[in-house]
Amino acid sequence: MIEPASFAITREAPPSFAALRRGVYAGEVYLLEPTPGSLALVERVRARLADVLGDDPRRAQHRMSNDELFARLSPLRRELYCDATYHDALRALLREQGGDPAALAFDPLRLRVVRSRGDVEVPAARAVYYPHRDTWYAHPQSLVAWWIPLDDLGEDETFAFFPERFEREVPNDSEAFDYDEWVRDGWELKIGWQRRDAGLTARYPGVLGEIAAGRAVGFSCQRGQHLAFSGAHFHATLPQATGRTRFSLDFRLVHLGDEAAGEGAPNVDGRSRGSALRDYVRTP
Ligand SMILES: [Fe+2]
Repeated sequence: MIEPASFAITREAPPSFAALRRGVYAGEVYLLEPTPGSLALVERVRARLADVLGDDPRRAQHRMSNDELFARLSPLRRELYCDATYHDALRALLREQGGDPAALAFDPLRLRVVRSRGDVEVPAARAVYYPHRDTWYAHPQSLVAWWIPLDDLGEDETFAFFPERFEREVPNDSEAFDYDEWVRDGWELKIGWQRRDAGLTARYPGVLGEIAAGRAVGFSCQRGQHLAFSGAHFHATLPQATGRTRFSLDFRLVHLGDEAAGEGAPNVDGRSRGSALRDYVRTP
């Protein structure tokens, strides 16, 4: 397992995809160089953003209301998540890392949008900034979260990990999260392509009370880099006030053999019910 006091993000590529998974389960966070697959994906999504938001999408938030921005992005969010050609792009990207798509299942691409000053100006978006573990949302302990920035970003506009909490409990109400109920309310809520007010009404698992999470480890990054980390890592998106919207992509994967063998990060405090894995995309 990682040593919280000396924890640092690893920029050296692991020797194999199996080694990457083992490292991730132990709490390592990898920031890897852009690849042809990630750069192609990034360029495709950047072009689509320009289609729906106009030139300079990162400044579109100043040209239109938040409702308008949300309405324009909703069909694109759906496309990224559902369109089979994006699923193929993820398979190609995983092959580049030495992964075998047939051995994996994935929760497809999501577009993340963090407005400049969104934390103070958009109450419905407040859940974006909650510190959390992805596993609190009924994902397996073997979850590997994969994040790709659409632009070069400074440390103040990405997110931060709290390594001291990887293996230490955080008081939380994840027991209130039931995956079956979550999807019964509708997939539009799950993906965030409709229901602009979802952030105000949805039951998101979160931290109970005030905690001192310990040292926060952030990072800067370049467009198209790969950030791979355990879904059990306690982390938080940073509010930013750069004047520009921060766009990123992410998806999640599970190695089915590891999951069957009970491998994965330790579960120190997750009590959500059901399993999101049943809805992940497979590769026949
Ligand atoms: Fe997360």
